Amino acid sequence: RLLIIDFGSQVTQLIARRLRELNVYCEIHPYQNVTDAFLEDFAPKAVIFSGGPASVIDEGSPRPPQSVYDLGVPILGICYGQQVMMADLGGKVERGHGTAEFGRAYVAPKNGEIDLLFGWFLEGREQVWMSHGDHVSAIAPGFEVYGTSPNAPFAITADLDRRFFAVQFHPEVHHTPNGKTFYENFVRLAGFTGDWTMDAYKEEAIRAIRAQVGDAHVICGLSGGVDSSVTAVLLHEAIGDQLTCVFVDHGLLRQNEAEDVVRMFRDHYNMKLIHADEAELFLGELDGVSDPETKRKIIGRLFVDVFQKYASEIEGAAFLAQGTLYPDVIESVSFSGGPSVTIKSHHNVGGLPEKMGLKLVEPLRELFKDEVRALGHELGLPASFIGRHPFPGPGLAIRCPGEITREKLEILRKADAVYIDQIRKHGLYDEIWQAFVAILPVRTVGVMGDGRTYDYACALRAVTSVDGMTADYYPFSHEFLGETATRIINEVPGINRVTYDITSKPPGTIEWE
Ligand code: XMP
Repeated sequence: RLLIIDFGSQVTQLIARRLRELNVYCEIHPYQNVTDAFLEDFAPKAVIFSGGPASVIDEGSPRPPQSVYDLGVPILGICYGQQVMMADLGGKVERGHGTAEFGRAYVAPKNGEIDLLFGWFLEGREQVWMSHGDHVSAIAPGFEVYGTSPNAPFAITADLDRRFFAVQFHPEVHHTPNGKTFYENFVRLAGFTGDWTMDAYKEEAIRAIRAQVGDAHVICGLSGGVDSSVTAVLLHEAIGDQLTCVFVDHGLLRQNEAEDVVRMFRDHYNMKLIHADEAELFLGELDGVSDPETKRKIIGRLFVDVFQKYASEIEGAAFLAQGTLYPDVIESVSFSGGPSVTIKSHHNVGGLPEKMGLKLVEPLRELFKDEVRALGHELGLPASFIGRHPFPGPGLAIRCPGEITREKLEILRKADAVYIDQIRKHGLYDEIWQAFVAILPVRTVGVMGDGRTYDYACALRAVTSVDGMTADYYPFSHEFLGETATRIINEVPGINRVTYDITSKPPGTIEWE
């Protein structure tokens, strides 16, 4: 296994992700925890020093234990990791003075080819991504330069005898397009065969959960979404009946959704599942409310109350499990404000762990969405379930502009089911990031058979997106739209007009509220 020593870079997890893509098992450990004894015990086959915000020039700056250099294994230092390596091994690092570099840069080869750079410089130079204030001003004895950029004469350095490599840029980020090859070369020369799999990750995660919770009881909020479902199933495999899931049903779910969740988790997986059916409470409090933010606030507050009420009845609970993903971790440290705030306050049931004296278990913290799906697959969750479109915490409330009534919700559920059925039938579901119907707060006149109708209008929404932050409307064919409109009007009493929303995000949002 490979050890990543984390010096605090925002992109350390991306290194791990690149390695997982290459089927190499790695662990990230903060530098403070990496002691001589730790290294001996861990026995890494290779080590990577991450980047980090500190300056090696400063007194007491983060360093690895010096024994790491005596392990006889390949070491790769990235950015701050390069500077650490140079400072530790007899080179020099200096402060900026006009040599700070942020963003795109181009590295050219120097001093011939080396294994680490196999497949690099095929077109003369490589685009890389730099982000550094300090820079190396003299390389350590034994090192040679193998790549330079205009502002980084020591962009790529290596001591081939000791297999120590140190680079100024970040090969793990998207903006270093050939970064995967770079890591591939590094792990190959370190002797990894790339035989690690998601199944092994699962086993490792189960072991870690058992070690963390011991024989304590764990509560898991289950929404039926991919993240919380994978979290629940993983925990169930790890600790069985020490887990109780609480499924808060606010009465704003889609057609058959609550039944499906209960059937799958309680009946199929045999989990302890509390179905908190609180539709009366939520719909009661939402009665007459039409302001979107007020709706969200009411739902958020009730959600926490309800969850707490049910959770406090579970005896001996010491942990709360959450399906926090790596992008959530990044987002919560790097942004404040923006749409993610609302999303977060729902996701993590707002400060509840502290209030209830619960510790957190977050087994998906290191993973990206597609990796969670792969893990879900490994855990035997059905493919149709793993590939589901995202569904917002406030549910249908934000797809029902204006006042929410049971009548409107019923109509909305039916229309949504027909729409999604159409999308699946035409094989478009997986091409679309998210699709749903919104019921509009207007009635319009129509004619059906020989009679006049006066019913609701609805809007179909379908977008493509990578992360939900920006989105484009999906270009359905007119045939598809026409057929879908006809089906909805024929099959859903209460709707007599169908529109298609062709707004992108920005300026629109994906949801209507
Ligand atoms: P918007 O409408 O802001 O949505 O473009 C972006 C993505 O986030 C989802 N969304 C939410 N998810 N709680 C959630 O868990 C929320 O309050 C919330 N609001 C929006 C939305 O469905 C889309 O995928």
